[in-house]
Order: sequence, then structure tokens, then C-alpha cells
Amino acid sequence: RTVAVILAGGTGTRLGLGIPKQLLKIAGKPIIEHTLAVFEAAPEIDEIIVLMAAGHVADAERIVEQAGFRKVTKVVEGGESRNATTRLALDTIGPADCNILFHDAVRPLVSGRIVRECVNALWTYAAVDVAIPSADTIIEVDADDCITGIPVRSRLRRGQTPQAFRSGTIREAYRRAEGDPDFAATDDCGVVLRYLPGTPIKVIDGADENIKVTHPVDVHLADKLFQLAAAQSHQLADHRGYTEELAGRTIVVFGG
Ligand code: CTP
Repeated sequence: RTVAVILAGGTGTRLGLGIPKQLLKIAGKPIIEHTLAVFEAAPEIDEIIVLMAAGHVADAERIVEQAGFRKVTKVVEGGESRNATTRLALDTIGPADCNILFHDAVRPLVSGRIVRECVNALWTYAAVDVAIPSADTIIEVDADDCITGIPVRSRLRRGQTPQAFRSGTIREAYRRAEGDPDFAATDDCGVVLRYLPGTPIKVIDGADENIKVTHPVDVHLADKLFQLAAAQSHQLADHRGYTEELAGRTIVVFGG
């Protein structure tokens, strides 16, 4: 059994809208509805649970009901931090063995291809991440904003989600983290890397489109990407080109 956990416990302070950004409408639908639609349509996913920001559980329930998402079994309140929300998701899922995919609610342009490759990789690996190469050089700085290092770019990736795990692995990592007063992580693979060292974490290719709506510019970008996907899905398939999945739809991408 494979469970998708949609992490929607945040409030989007960097976007600064006054409502959690996952409720913002892009291309006619709340961001979280686009995200849920991809997992609902993915044949590899059996069940979806949503962890929603405090005070907005009913909003998420309404979206699920109106869209008719049948795989969503629970909508519960998230935690104070992203990792606290993950912990609550693990409690909600319970002790049964399963595959678990954690996905940011605010990455609505994730594709069916990415979901499929995450689930497939769990046959071989107990932990899976999704990432893309970095076009920018990444620099490391100290507290005074002076450079302390410039890691070799070819070995760097930008992490996205989903992050996928066999349930035993992610539960054990969080169990060990619980006893650590210095616990600090911003994602779930980081918890496995730190508390279950030696566990291979496979990285599969993400996509440039799989953006995390974080800053105001991302709203415009996501809107444009949805427009592009919609326009291209209406093109006739007999054009020169190849098809690719974007936001769960098959689109036609025109080649030279
Ligand atoms: N998230 C969560 N629980 C939290 C914090 C974040 O489930 N306590 C989720 C967010 O809802 C989002 C994802 O983790 O889908 C990525 O987090 P981020 O982009 O940082 O979202 P926010 O915390 O909402 O944004 P900000 O940091 O600007 O407040």
C-alpha cells in the first residue's frame, strides 16, 4: 500500500497573503486542489492524507469534497514546523507497513512521472528524494555574508518533493530524532541522513516546473506554467514533437 501525505500545515509567511498559500487560486483552482489531483490520478497511490494549517481543516475538506477526490481518507491539522507535521502524519498513518510519499502542498506542478519513479525506486531503496541540477552557482556564507566555500556545482542538486520512504525507515529515523535536543531539519530525507546514517537515499530527477510556490513571483510563474500546460494539451497530436507529462496531464512539447 502506498500513502501520499500532502503537507499543507504552513501559513506562507513569505508570500504574506493573510491566508495559507495552498488555498490561493491559480488557474481557477486552489493550489492544493491541483496538487491533490495529481496524486488522485496516479495509479501508484492508494490513499492520500492531508495535513492542513490550523483553522483551515474545513477549507481543505470542502475542496476534497467538491472535487470528489476519493483517495483522500483524512484531513487533519498540521504541526508547528514541517517536521512536526510529518510526525503527525506518521501518527495518523499508524504502524502498518506501507510506502509513504511526503509532498509539499505548494508544489502543484508535480507530474505523474515523478510520482511513478518515486514509488518504483522504493522497490530498491528505503528512501528516495527528488532533485534537479542547479543552474546557479551555490555559495556558502558565514554570519557576516562573506563567502566560506563554493562547492563544485556538478555535485549539487536542488531538492524538491515528493520524498518517499518505506514506513519502517522514516518511523525509525523520527523515533531516534525525538530524543535529540538539537534536532533541526527542513525536510524528511535530512532526518534519515542524520539519524539513520548509511541508509542509501536514491535521488531521482525532478523537473524545473515542479516549483515550490514560495515568493510572489512564483505565483506568476505557476500561473504561466498552468496556462502553457492547458494550451499545449489542446494542440493536435500530429504536430512534430514529443509528449511529456506536466501537472498530471499529457502535453505536447514542440521540438525544433
Ligand atoms: N508545512 C507544513 N507544516 C508546517 C510548515 C510547512 O506542512 N508547520 C508545509 C507547507 O504547507 C508547504 C511545505 O511544507 O506545503 C513547504 O513549506 P514552505 O514553503 O516553507 O511553506 P510555509 O511554511 O507555508 O511558508 P513560509 O515558510 O513562507 O511561512
